[in-house]
Amino acid sequence: RIAYVNGRYVPHRDATVHVEDRGYQFADGVYEVCEVHAGKLVDEKRHLDRLDRSLRELRIDWPLSREALRVVLREVVQRNRVRDGLVYFQVTRGVAKRDHAFPKVPVRPSLVVTARSSDPQANDAAAEKGVAVVTCPDNRWSRVDIKTVGLLANVLARQAAVEAGAREAWFVDRDGYVTEGASSNAWIVTGDKVITRPADDNAILRGVTRTTIIDMLADHGLTLEERAFTVEEAQKAREAFMTAATAIVMPIVRIDGVEVGDGKPGPVALGLRRALHSTAE
Ligand code: PDD
Repeated sequence: RIAYVNGRYVPHRDATVHVEDRGYQFADGVYEVCEVHAGKLVDEKRHLDRLDRSLRELRIDWPLSREALRVVLREVVQRNRVRDGLVYFQVTRGVAKRDHAFPKVPVRPSLVVTARSSDPQANDAAAEKGVAVVTCPDNRWSRVDIKTVGLLANVLARQAAVEAGAREAWFVDRDGYVTEGASSNAWIVTGDKVITRPADDNAILRGVTRTTIIDMLADHGLTLEERAFTVEEAQKAREAFMTAATAIVMPIVRIDGVEVGDGKPGPVALGLRRALHSTAE
């Protein structure tokens, strides 16, 4: 495997950054995960637009031009012979003597790019059965709209989910409303309405897959209702599902041990999943 680190393509095992990189010390950096389908980067423009927004919010410079980054992403995908999988790219503020404030003399941001193949069959098999989620209090900071590498709350939530035999954890805010998953957006279906939380108050990440699904709903005879929902409402919904570059659309059949609908993946989630795969081709 090959990775890109600050201007060089290196064997994955030698792909290292300095111990004083601010990403390592302060989680002072941002990232993107983009799906690769049939050798192509899915929704590349939206991922680059979101990277640009994350960088601007944290006042980190682009490590290289957008066009140059696009070339590097393709190069890493090709050098790793990825047809179906993921490309990961991360920008941190750079290497500097440890001090919380930004370096006085600006340093070059660090850029790391990796890519790996995934097993589409494994994901499809999970989607056919549906997955379980468990809920936990949303104890993250108040700017989760920025896709930073500061993911400790997400790590702990996911670990709790895995230990409970679930695929994902759903964060719940202080008023009892679901915000999003540890690394996915959360959705439910009631009647012909598809419900997901608004992304304009910094309480969730504006998922690229989320935006793509919203754009597709009308073509599928579905209506979007952008509002928060409670755990109880989700447990009583006809369907629930999650979206992310890593999972596409994943039906949820159990929330905190309670079956959703008839306990099987629903037609809306499965239909959207199939449709998304075909648009990527
Ligand atoms: N995570 N919400 C959170 C907190 C996420 O971390 C992610 C994605 C999403 C979905 O966004 P998108 O549809 O753009 O992938 C929502 C990536 C996949 C990860 O951390 O691995």
